[in-house]
Amino acid sequence: MSSSEEIKGGVHKTTSHDSARKHVNGAAIFIDDMPSFPDTQEAALLLSPYAHAKILEIDITQALASLGVSAVITAKGIPGKNDIAPVFSDEPVLASQIVEYAGQPIVAISADSYDNAFAAIKKVKVVYEELIPVLTIQEAWDKEQFTYEPAKVETGNAVEAIKAADFVLNGEVSCGGQDHFYLESQIALAIPEEDQAMLVYSSTQHPTEVQHGVSNVLGIPQNDVTVEVRRMGGGFGGKESQSTIIAAIAALLAEHCRTPVKVRLRRDVDMIATGKRHDFLFKYQVGFNEAGEIGGAIIDMAARSGNVADLSAGVLGRALCHADNAYFIPNALFRAWPCKTNTVSNTAFRGFGSPQGMLVIETIIEHIAHELKRPVEDIRSINWYGEKNRNVTPYGQTVTDNIMAQIVDRLEVEGHLHERRMAIEEYNRTHKTLKKGIALMPVKFGISFNAVPLNQAGALVHVYTDGSVHLNHGGTEMGQGLFTKVAQVVSSVFQIDIDHVKISSTRTDKVPNTGPTAASAGSDLNGMAAFNAAEEIKGRMKQVAASHFGVETDSIEFRQNRVYAGNESLKFSEVAELTWSSRISLSATGYYQTPDIHWDGKSMSGSPFYYYTYGASISEVVIDTLTGESRVLATDILQDVGSSLNPGIDLGQIEGAFVQGLGWLTSEELVWDQDGRLMTHGPSTYKIPGSRDVPPRFKVHILEDTPNTVPTIYRSKAVGEPPLMLALSVWLAIRDAVARTRDYKVFPKLNAPATPEAILMALDAM
Ligand code: MTE
Ligand code: HPA
Ligand code: MOS
Repeated sequence: MSSSEEIKGGVHKTTSHDSARKHVNGAAIFIDDMPSFPDTQEAALLLSPYAHAKILEIDITQALASLGVSAVITAKGIPGKNDIAPVFSDEPVLASQIVEYAGQPIVAISADSYDNAFAAIKKVKVVYEELIPVLTIQEAWDKEQFTYEPAKVETGNAVEAIKAADFVLNGEVSCGGQDHFYLESQIALAIPEEDQAMLVYSSTQHPTEVQHGVSNVLGIPQNDVTVEVRRMGGGFGGKESQSTIIAAIAALLAEHCRTPVKVRLRRDVDMIATGKRHDFLFKYQVGFNEAGEIGGAIIDMAARSGNVADLSAGVLGRALCHADNAYFIPNALFRAWPCKTNTVSNTAFRGFGSPQGMLVIETIIEHIAHELKRPVEDIRSINWYGEKNRNVTPYGQTVTDNIMAQIVDRLEVEGHLHERRMAIEEYNRTHKTLKKGIALMPVKFGISFNAVPLNQAGALVHVYTDGSVHLNHGGTEMGQGLFTKVAQVVSSVFQIDIDHVKISSTRTDKVPNTGPTAASAGSDLNGMAAFNAAEEIKGRMKQVAASHFGVETDSIEFRQNRVYAGNESLKFSEVAELTWSSRISLSATGYYQTPDIHWDGKSMSGSPFYYYTYGASISEVVIDTLTGESRVLATDILQDVGSSLNPGIDLGQIEGAFVQGLGWLTSEELVWDQDGRLMTHGPSTYKIPGSRDVPPRFKVHILEDTPNTVPTIYRSKAVGEPPLMLALSVWLAIRDAVARTRDYKVFPKLNAPATPEAILMALDAM
């Protein structure tokens, strides 16, 4: 691969996000900004007020007669299957006989204006028979009420190993859920086309699944449904499966009225009716020796799955495969319990179960350090994955690319961990109410979907005769910079300026049968597919150029927007024109499948990840022991991203992910009332981090000179999710500050999120 130094926008260079300016000046077109078609109808939803109830009767007569109403749909009006579940078949679009959470859609209405649709909703009469809801994880767990068959990851004999251990600890900890709070709430616009065809604009990370959902509910083949998305105003996992129901409702209404229908959720409806990050209860038992070396661990993870399974099996699977984090646990029994509750179904959220899995193992590591009165660094380093016999994970994958210890050692030195610890001791001695704490968090994160079939991608590249390039692939843009990165790849292959590469909307009729843009694998998968498509066209252009110049194909070189044969050259556009006139195709598809991965879902073992990414962070916090408030004072991050495709974008991903994790762990709290109604459904009661919550000293460093050990696209590594888990350093630092109030005599009982109340309770318990 020749160097891309001379062209604008090749790989390994900071190139600004293609929409950066447009995001700021308003020129970026989101679905709600698209010019309206005549007769476009707006929709409103009737949501269940009860967490658990039988539906005895639905009367829509008055709603149908209401001003401006064009369609009123209930479960009965669904021509195809009333199911949009992504994995199992348990998720209705509209509830028919029973409602299982407060906020579940029952009726959808379209009208000539949003106000008219909203007014009509109030005229629907539903008779319910209330049932007793199950609202907590513990209650569902006690009743063994699950959304699917619980799974476990097991190696060796944890029970025996713990029995034989010198020391044994038991503990419990819990963490909260998290709303995605994307700026653009869920939205879809469905446009009926000729015959039964349906075109759907959907704010989705998974156009193919939206296509399948619409095809299923309308009872029409997949080739009658086209789904398009140019960009999302954020997804964060919340539009991996949750966008399907919105699109399905839009399509059902559009099919009914034969006019375009737009479904866009108000912020509070979005928060009430759509899924979030899973909250978890953990119970653990760990056996270890004098040195702190873990002999065996049993971890039970009970998660709030919600009313249906949705993606819980994948999320809990990832939690099980990250409860080891970077530590070798020879005897492990990790069990995940998908608790079925009468609350909205939880779903994908950046990290996909890994943040929760890591929270519990880091708690265990600190608990061991506390018990042995040893520095936590010692406990970490004795347990790192290592050489032979110490490099196999509980799920059976051999860790071959481990650089965890190097990263942590370097960050400890460069972040002055030991000096700052001493300074904090001094500070705490001289301050009565304010107490500081500091902690380090290592993160090892596996890249690839744990569902093997999802690890494939396609691309479509056209070169036109003026040398401009049209680029399309199955990945979606949600702000993470995927489209820019893939355009950089194509610009590098052809050695042309990135301005000549036109980024286009994701469409199921251009690149079919795609997986979701998720698992941080977007650029790995789509970058490689686009690379393959561009290489195919480049090969054909080379042959044309070679015959033009009368030289061997091998001696043709693409450089600086030109095509060279020794000293002679033509413009890239001239070779494109020549290729056309030679009657050779300038269009190609590209395809990629991640190699060397396998997974057995029954035994929950295999080698599911193509590689791991590594990172570490140190955070210093201060807490107010009277009010429970906390602040992050400083954060240092060292993150491995392989040979970065775009260091500027990667830096933004690391910072953004960290701050999003900080919100999950400190300020964002979901509260339901005693009847199971979400009370925190807007920014006044649900506190996402603001600009002043960003650490005032925030040093983010990308690890240099570490190309991926496996041949990913230009040896880069995924970046989207892993840095979210680095925010656990803040939560650990808060626990450190709490522990210091009693000179580490007691191991604090702190759960996440560490809100002021939680910190005060932890202090009280000391
Ligand atoms: N960054 C922005 N700005 N907006 C998003 O919605 N989603 C995250 C991450 N970064 C997200 C984001 C999540 S959950 C994932 S899985 C990855 O981006 C997906 O994109 P990638 O695979 O291209 O990194
Ligand atoms: N991450 C995100 N989405 C997914 C995954 C994953 O690992 N597996 C299946 N869907
Ligand atoms: Mo990200 S949670 O895998 O969409």
